[in-house]
Amino acid sequence: MIKPEIVEAKQVGEIITQIEQNGFTIRALELVQLEIEDAEEFYAVHQDRPFYKDLCTYMSSGPVVAMVLEKDNAVAEFRKFIGATNPAEANEGTIRKQFGKSIEENAIHGSDADETALEEIEFFFPGMLE
Ligand code: PPS
Repeated sequence: MIKPEIVEAKQVGEIITQIEQNGFTIRALELVQLEIEDAEEFYAVHQDRPFYKDLCTYMSSGPVVAMVLEKDNAVAEFRKFIGATNPAEANEGTIRKQFGKSIEENAIHGSDADETALEEIEFFFPGMLE
């Protein structure tokens, strides 16, 4: 999921170019405006963390780009490609290093495990996996 500050900054195309150049195939893509309740559901796993409310407010502040990407070992490969959650700690050349501004405005979200990826695909593209 490409985060709101990137849509606002008109950098979606640059990031999608890099996603494709790194061997990921786009299987679904949609520009989505999340309501705060949607963001709360998506990030429910973090509901007890101090940043939860801010994160949900931010993630519903403008449209995001949701994508389903395919590659061998996609979840791990994508996490390597986007870099550490905090852009300040991300490796050179990663998406978050290049485009992230802070631990909240970190440009992009990637699923953290295969099981989460299935849930997140169902969240944005219901029925796609049936
Ligand atoms: S990880 O990789 O899931 O362990 O990362 P984590 O540190 O748990 O962060 C999970 C998501 O929460 C966001 N985050 C924050 N938002 C606002 N303020 C603070 N302090 C903060 N810390 C973490 C972070 O951007 C992660 O969002 P996603 O969409 O998963 O990248």
